[in-house]
Amino acid sequence: MSLSTEQKFEKMKEIRDKLLNFKKSPLYKYRLENKYFPVVGEGSHNARIMFIGEAPGKNEAETARPFCGKSGKVLDEMLESINLNRSDVYITNIVKDRPPENRDPSPEEIKLYAPFLNEQIDIIQPRVIATLGRFSMVYILELLKCDTPILSIGQMHGKEYSGQASFGLVTVVPLYHPAVALYNGGNKGTLLEDFQVLKKYV
Ligand code: URA
Repeated sequence: MSLSTEQKFEKMKEIRDKLLNFKKSPLYKYRLENKYFPVVGEGSHNARIMFIGEAPGKNEAETARPFCGKSGKVLDEMLESINLNRSDVYITNIVKDRPPENRDPSPEEIKLYAPFLNEQIDIIQPRVIATLGRFSMVYILELLKCDTPILSIGQMHGKEYSGQASFGLVTVVPLYHPAVALYNGGNKGTLLEDFQVLKKYV
């Protein structure tokens, strides 16, 4: 069933309210101590392309906006390369609170926060999910029962996989996390090339 723009907005607000009060999370106390915010997501609730990263960093937790630090600059540049900006897509993460010291999200945290992401996918009903990094790649390929063995991101990036969501078929495009371009400038070219795959869904 597809929702009206108003219904989508209301449902996203409910998710935000639940996250604000998500005392069950091991990251909740750390959030309060640091005056951080949960990062729900940003962009169009009617987007055809949804980007899913890992977890907020410091900048994101301070502002409640996904990908607003250095990795975000890379993401903006990639979007621009295919004539998109943030308001054309929806950007979120699997884990909605910042893990301390930017450590990787734990399997328990992924499991705990995943129902929020699943609900967001059902609200937005994207045609394409572009995963950013290995954690979201593995999670989404499994969630949507994509008919592929899960290999390394080095083997899967930039390719298209077909998945089944409750509302229909979704194409999954695994991408490297934008931070790879910060550690190794050469990877920027690979990211730029991989983003070209998304062009036909714009
Ligand atoms: N890295 C992520 O995976 N997500 C963000 O929102 C920021 C950095």
